[in-house]
Amino acid sequence: MEFTAIILAGGQGTRMKSPLPKVLHPVAGKPMIARVVNTCRSAGVTEIRVVVGHGQNLVKTVLEPLNVQTFVQEKQLGTADAVRSAKLDSIGSDVIIMNGDHPLITDQDLKNFISDFKEQRLDLAVVTVELDVPGEFGRIVRNGNQLISIVETKDASAETLKIKEVNTGIYIVKAEVLQKYIPLIKNNNSKQEFYLTDIVDLALENKLKTQALLSNNTDVAHGVNNQQELAAATKKVFQAKNKKLLEAGVVFIDPDTAYIEESVVIGAGSVIYPNTFIRGKTAIGAFTVIEPNCFISDSVIGDSVHMKAGCYIEQVIINNKASVGPYARLRPETIIGEEAHVGNFVEMKKVKFGKKSKAGHLSYLGDADIGEEVNIGCGTITCNYAADQKKYKTVIGDRVFVGSDSQLVAPVTIGNDSLVASGTTVTKNVPEGALALARSPQVNKEGYAQKFKVNKNKSES
Ligand code: UD1
Ligand code: CA
Repeated sequence: MEFTAIILAGGQGTRMKSPLPKVLHPVAGKPMIARVVNTCRSAGVTEIRVVVGHGQNLVKTVLEPLNVQTFVQEKQLGTADAVRSAKLDSIGSDVIIMNGDHPLITDQDLKNFISDFKEQRLDLAVVTVELDVPGEFGRIVRNGNQLISIVETKDASAETLKIKEVNTGIYIVKAEVLQKYIPLIKNNNSKQEFYLTDIVDLALENKLKTQALLSNNTDVAHGVNNQQELAAATKKVFQAKNKKLLEAGVVFIDPDTAYIEESVVIGAGSVIYPNTFIRGKTAIGAFTVIEPNCFISDSVIGDSVHMKAGCYIEQVIINNKASVGPYARLRPETIIGEEAHVGNFVEMKKVKFGKKSKAGHLSYLGDADIGEEVNIGCGTITCNYAADQKKYKTVIGDRVFVGSDSQLVAPVTIGNDSLVASGTTVTKNVPEGALALARSPQVNKEGYAQKFKVNKNKSES
């Protein structure tokens, strides 16, 4: 099926009160315009033309990887002028026209509209919905069933304003109809804009087969013009995702307070506590528990993992049955082995942390290869960043015991089965099975504590 989409994204979006062009505001992690483009593509639209204007450079940057054609509307003279900017003469297929600020339209919606258009052999169709509060939308005037006109609120009589069927801003039209009638639209209305809605009048005058297709999905009409509408759209997308996950057997304590992007996969029997934010290309296995206030992005988390409250996880792999947190920060390129344990206030960056190894408390581990069944004592630091501003690696073998409060000055290798005594600053490689000990011998001065306290009291009096 050859089909062209024209997406209008040139408007300023003044009511957003934001420096970002309106169509770039993300809805559940994805810019509105990217949503509309992707929806067109998955509905089978073969060619996508986006009309840009305000903030065009930024908008183009976001559009570039999406493989669409962009057209610049130099001045925002109205929706018909925006459509004209898309070089209509070079279009050879039927066209669907959409607004870039309607992020909740689904590919199924578009497929339905297109098939209705084809079945009814129409020349021009406009998609409508019925709203209890029709607000600022253009009103659909019908005579019996037949569409007569679309009237903008600013030009509507009190009687017309009562109409509940409204224009969603989606049109399906034959290329030749667009090519012939768009140039004939005039701007003689209260806003002195070229209204795309006027194409309906022209088509009817010229006896073309024109109809309003009433959709029962009011989300189609969910335009984003201000921050409230943006937040409402975001909430809808998150809720729809959680509904799907619930249906697939994921357990939520409260699905209203989990923010999971559509791209995320979660296995059945996993439990999501409130205030979790899960983003991007994250995959979570089965029977994994994610406690409250975790932020997880672009990570792969296995089965039966226990992530305790307050973890911040980015581009990390966590293998089956590992436990992480509370309050762990795992940074990119970190891999946590099966049944490993990462406890509270542990930060890792670029770490391979072997099977059944443990770092229970308060550590920084970076640029490290850590073997299996290793114990990393509380307060251990890999000193990976040197005065030459380069990073160096720490390699720790299997079954190593690193005592608390040790510093491992990289580059350094600690052999299998060795032991690092508490408080040691390791600057030389440690051979297999050795004990590394680097701290000053302790001196005890008998009675000195009492003497010190007495002196202190004297000096205060
Ligand atoms: C338009 C329709 C209205 C419909 C509503 C649905 C017209 C005259 N009215 O009104 O019947 O109910 O959409 O949301 O068409 N744009 C440009 N260049 C312009 C003007 C607009 O690119 O010169 C883009 C905007 O960025 C936006 C879209 O076109 O994505 C719609 O424009 P907007 O001004 O929001 O139209 P509405 O007043 O909402
Ligand atoms: Ca609008």
